[in-house]
Amino acid sequence: MATTVYRDLEILYTRQQIADRVAEMGARISEDLKGEKLVMVGVLKGAAIFLSDLARTIDVDATFDFVAVSSYGKGQRSSGAVKLIKDLDEPIEGKNVLVVEDILDTGLTLAYLRKIFLQHHPKTLRIAALLDKPSRRLEKIEADYVGFSIPNLFVIGYGMDYAERYRNLPDICLMSPDHPE
Ligand code: IMP
Ligand code: MG
Repeated sequence: MATTVYRDLEILYTRQQIADRVAEMGARISEDLKGEKLVMVGVLKGAAIFLSDLARTIDVDATFDFVAVSSYGKGQRSSGAVKLIKDLDEPIEGKNVLVVEDILDTGLTLAYLRKIFLQHHPKTLRIAALLDKPSRRLEKIEADYVGFSIPNLFVIGYGMDYAERYRNLPDICLMSPDHPE
């Protein structure tokens, strides 16, 4: 890639690999929810791009909602604390909910969201995560749909950030710990 932002960044998954995998996930989700209605709940901000692409591969009657949780701070390390900073706009009671997240890492975020969403008694609650880092898990939680399972690497692009930057890279890239900012 010949852009300035891309210089020195190694690509982990190209936009084509992502598109192919997202389409496979969408096909499975459509199959599992055939004839049902679906609420896709994106976790801001990282999942915004994944949700927009995934939604267009899902062939069921769907609506969108978004939540935001307190983030990792500005670096690569988690503070451990999760807090809801933007709640759902619409009630999810009795609905089929698909939580859409960029990365399942320690699992703290999704375990927290699952707990509070279940208190609203949805009909079903499923999780779609584009990336999964199982070796990092602190909470016992798995996604129903996973795009790619990866080792303990820090990635950026396709919605994912380092200190709020790089979300607009179209490919998923590796951020080395000693990357010059
Ligand atoms: P968890 O609560 O540790 O599972 O954190 C999940 C969140 O951490 C994700 O939604 C991302 O926002 C962030 N995160 C975890 N790993 C990465 C990464 O490699 N790149 C960018 N953000 C990450
Ligand atoms: Mg996130």
